[in-house]
Amino acid sequence: APSGSALTNNGATVNWHSQKLKHVVDSGDFNRAAVDVVFKEALKMEKVKPNTKESKVLSGYIMSTLFYEPSTRTRLSFESAMSRLGGTVLSTESAGEYSSAAKGETLEDTVRTVEAYADCIVIRHFQEGSAKRAAAVASVPILNAGDGPGQHPTQALLDLYTIQREIGRLEGIKVGMVGDLANGRTVRSLCMLLSMYNDVQVYFVAPEVVKMRDDVKAYLTARGIKWTEASDLHEVAADADVLYQTRIQRERFLDMNEYAAARGKYIIDKDLMRILKPTAVVMHPLPRVDEITTDVDSDPRAAYFRQARNGLYVRMALLKLCLADGHPDIPL
Ligand code: CP
Repeated sequence: APSGSALTNNGATVNWHSQKLKHVVDSGDFNRAAVDVVFKEALKMEKVKPNTKESKVLSGYIMSTLFYEPSTRTRLSFESAMSRLGGTVLSTESAGEYSSAAKGETLEDTVRTVEAYADCIVIRHFQEGSAKRAAAVASVPILNAGDGPGQHPTQALLDLYTIQREIGRLEGIKVGMVGDLANGRTVRSLCMLLSMYNDVQVYFVAPEVVKMRDDVKAYLTARGIKWTEASDLHEVAADADVLYQTRIQRERFLDMNEYAAARGKYIIDKDLMRILKPTAVVMHPLPRVDEITTDVDSDPRAAYFRQARNGLYVRMALLKLCLADGHPDIPL
């Protein structure tokens, strides 16, 4: 499992700049007020119709995507978000292969170059800390679309938004996080956001080789959040408001025997759904392999495709807050 660096919490103080969102790099850059602003905008984005004033708010702006790792949801929802708000997109997928990174260009030089062509840059990179490195040299907003096993802050925001929309509250919720918690950047970032709400309880259910890392546990403890490591998924399912399943990330294992040992240990299937509370939901950042069986998809508590759709609205909100003229709720 990755060793992990110390997690920071800057609040939103360093993140607002002239009534705009400066960067979206780390979940720790958000405080509750900042999350509220994003969610208020996201709710409005659910209602944006084509060819209206609201659908042209980013007209004339250009977003660049630099993806060094594969993606379906994050890249396409960012691109859709920009298009739905009237902006345009410069897209690079497989950037390690098809950008000048293949010729040895550093991430810093690529960012310094691309910022001349685009008003914001969305980056997915295989190295933890890469989005922070990009933000350190960038003069345009950097949106972290996942930095190796580090952070995935826009996913965490859409996850939190989904919990709010599905359960109706964030205070006092019980969240079971399941699967590859050592490599799962989504659960790491989500824990940081959940830690801002009162009486949250987190259960970690993971195979031995991919347990939640100590930095996240320390982060939660320091903020008075109760967390427990459990081995019985059925017990957790009976108590949870949200069961957040994750994929065992084959690509992050050096030893395939360890991958084989971790895979298939915790599966959400029809039997498990019988234990889940009628008011609870199952979430997953996707993609899934086999950790949620497909016969669960028709259960109304299966929220993962609604969750993916919410990614569009939250990313529309983030792009607007980064690029459009000052937002009245944001400090100068
Ligand atoms: N949830 C998520 O990050 O999905 P993609 O890898 O498809 O972008």
